[in-house]
Amino acid sequence: MSQLVRACGTDEIEEEEVLRFDHEGNTFALYHGPDGNFYATDGYCTHAKAHLGDGIVDEFEIECPLHFGAFDYRTGDATVAPACQKLKTYPVSIQEGAVFIDIS
Ligand code: FES
Repeated sequence: MSQLVRACGTDEIEEEEVLRFDHEGNTFALYHGPDGNFYATDGYCTHAKAHLGDGIVDEFEIECPLHFGAFDYRTGDATVAPACQKLKTYPVSIQEGAVFIDIS
């Protein structure tokens, strides 16, 4: 069963930006891609738990602020070392101008 949670308004993240979102003790990172779509991943880098909400978006990659590893935020694949473990991704839907993520 899906568990949709409202994360933010679609106008709260510019294209190629990232936003931190915390919900009930969990933390996420939301992205607005250059394709106009929104994406969501776990907030913490799988390398050493820096928060990706503080990272830098370059097209479809998020660069970790701590050791500059990177991930493709569409798939969660690690693309630049020292990041090597996949990042969990979450389905996103848009409803009435807001970004919802399915955290089930
Ligand atoms: Fe992200 Fe090290 S904590 S690359």
